[in-house]
Amino acid sequence: MRKTRKEYTDANRIAWDEAAPRHATHNNEALFAAVVDPGYVSFKGDILHALRQVGVAGKHIIQLGCNNGCETLSLRNLGATRCVGVDASAEFLAHGRELIRLAGAEDQVELVESDVYELPAEFNGAFDMVLVTIGVLSWMPDLKVFFEVVRGLLKPGGQLVMEEMHPVLFMYEENAETGVSSVQYSYFGKHIWEETDGLDYYGHEVYDGLPNYSFMYRLDEILMAGIDAGLGLQRFTELDYDISNLCSDLEQSPTRPPLGFVMVMSCE
Ligand SMILES: C[S@@+](CC[C@H](N)C(=O)[O-])C[C@H]1O[C@@H](n2cnc3c(N)ncnc32)[C@H](O)[C@@H]1O
Repeated sequence: MRKTRKEYTDANRIAWDEAAPRHATHNNEALFAAVVDPGYVSFKGDILHALRQVGVAGKHIIQLGCNNGCETLSLRNLGATRCVGVDASAEFLAHGRELIRLAGAEDQVELVESDVYELPAEFNGAFDMVLVTIGVLSWMPDLKVFFEVVRGLLKPGGQLVMEEMHPVLFMYEENAETGVSSVQYSYFGKHIWEETDGLDYYGHEVYDGLPNYSFMYRLDEILMAGIDAGLGLQRFTELDYDISNLCSDLEQSPTRPPLGFVMVMSCE
């Protein structure tokens, strides 16, 4: 039976909290050493290019699903003057707060524990940019309301900058033994996945986790949800390289599908 939006996001919050210590084992030592450099920027490739084109300096930016905040911190290092990272996972945000302390960025970077669907009212219309990066959309049980939230956060003329896994990628599954990915699902197929495999996407550690729920959206659904929320499409680029660690062997495949996209939408 379909759950309510809140039941999905609550279950996912618990599953992400459960993943945080595992993620930290694989990631945090190197990350904590790197962020001490005031020039630390985690963005690469087309998302960095898009951020530079749109312009970050002097802006007020909110990142939805910021995880451990390393990208929110990178926005500050690129010149943003107010950087807010929102995530539901208290455990990941605890790592983020340590990272921001080490970087000496407490005055410009604020991490907020909140469900994306329940943001504080004072954020309404407060931002020049909303940033969404890899692996957030598929955790959103309601795409329409998600884009309405984005629209509500933006000042007039503000922009959404999004880097995400390409919906076509969700048709593929990687064989755990051979590491070879192949098409297993219809593009127009199942929309809600219940899984109990752990969520340590960084170390790929396999463990029995609590159930988590992810959602498969088509490209037309993503674009139309943004447009219906009142956002205009400004830039759209499909990526032929791996941004997600998901089916990463496809990057080398002669028949590789689109693996990601970078999109800029603006609030008219
Ligand atoms: C794959 S991670 C995003 C990683 C991010 N792109 C980065 O590189 O740091 C997805 C994040 O979304 C958060 N998340 C999932 N559902 C959420 C919700 N409803 N509200 C707020 N955060 C949510 C999770 O806690 C997790 O940290």
